Amino acid sequence: MKIGIDKIDFYTPPQYLDLVDLAHARQVDPNKYLIGIGQKKMAVAHLDQDIVAMAANAAEKILTPADKQALGLVIVATESGVDQSKAAALFVQQVLQLTTNLRAIEIKEACYGATAGLQMAKDFVQCHPDKKALVVASDIARYGLNSGGEVTQGAGAVAMIVSVDPHILALEDQSIYQSQSTGDFWRPNYSTEAFARGKYSEEVYLQMFSDIWQQASSQKMTQTEQLQALLFHIPFSKMGRKGLKTLEDKLATADYQRLLQRFEQSIIYGQDVGNIYTGSLYLSLLSLLENDSTLQVGDRIGLFSYGSGSVAELFFGQLQPDFKKYLTPLVHQELLKQRKQLTLVEYENIFRQKLVTDGSTQKLSQSDCNAPHYLTKIQDHERFYK
Ligand code: HMG
Repeated sequence: MKIGIDKIDFYTPPQYLDLVDLAHARQVDPNKYLIGIGQKKMAVAHLDQDIVAMAANAAEKILTPADKQALGLVIVATESGVDQSKAAALFVQQVLQLTTNLRAIEIKEACYGATAGLQMAKDFVQCHPDKKALVVASDIARYGLNSGGEVTQGAGAVAMIVSVDPHILALEDQSIYQSQSTGDFWRPNYSTEAFARGKYSEEVYLQMFSDIWQQASSQKMTQTEQLQALLFHIPFSKMGRKGLKTLEDKLATADYQRLLQRFEQSIIYGQDVGNIYTGSLYLSLLSLLENDSTLQVGDRIGLFSYGSGSVAELFFGQLQPDFKKYLTPLVHQELLKQRKQLTLVEYENIFRQKLVTDGSTQKLSQSDCNAPHYLTKIQDHERFYK
């Protein structure tokens, strides 16, 4: 039985900061951001586009009435959760008017959360082949104004439907995963910004990739002549490039060049959106599928997921006969093109805005997000959405 990603789409708020403007403001050579970090723009979310609203806006695009009816599991993976208790998936269920006969939960493990969700969804569908699962990765990456990680911020959500006989990517059963407690990146409950040991986090990412690749190779899972693309978690594109580079000496030149070429297609969307934490690997998948015209039905793709703290996994999938029909590259190119460019002052003002935390009522006038779902108000410590 084939199980995997049946549909995939994404949402990102309709405004961004150009990283050249950020570089000038922070008195940094723009090439450090454009080449050294490998990013061009970062999406900026208004308060009304929190992770619930973004998740609903991403999921809305792929759910037909028949899909909604078939859902047995809804997972929202996030590390920017809005409640310590109630799952973001329950808000999404309500906002999208989904059936009540389903399990709705939230998963957290930094940027690995969506992969945990995807694997759980796959196991769920294996046991309940007549049902589908919705997995949404939704995050806002915040490190703070003038912080080392500022250039690697971003915001967005990726939604996927997991089912039998998927239209896009059938997932293989075998994968290699690893967990180990590390202090590379974390965000305590009281902080709206993440803390990172930046260079150390890069080392852990690369070490885990190297260990996992070695294990996968010893189990003959990485024969590169069969591997048409290798995707990475992309906190910023240079990170994935560094991961891929570790294979340069291990692979035949033609295989490495093929993976490199496809890597370039996989970072196109992320370079304009920024780090969307747990959705970022899946934004790379979408970027690859929509920007590369050479991939063929049956091609095998490797996906390396990394979440700080840290959990990592390398897994594989095969492109399905109809995959091109289920993609909307023009819609996504337009979505990115139509965004408003913020000035630095506008970006800093949005960054400083805060939701009330004292129980008072705060009504949000819908920002120009032009999206169906948004946070409308906070009242008595509760969030309300349209
Ligand atoms: P930094 O101090 O700005 O780094 O921090 P840098 O000064 O070393 O510069 C970065 C690169 O730019 C270097 O290249 C420089 O040589 C180059 P590298 O040595 O890395 O190849 N550079 C230039 N290139 C061209 N022209 C120039 C120029 N100047 C310098 N003029 C860092 C960078 C990424 C550490 C920082 O932004 C940070 O802390 N980011 C947040 C943490 C992070 O993203 N870590 C990634 C791994 S952990 C992960 O992926 C998980 C995560 O997504 C969270 C989760 O799981 O939830 C973060």
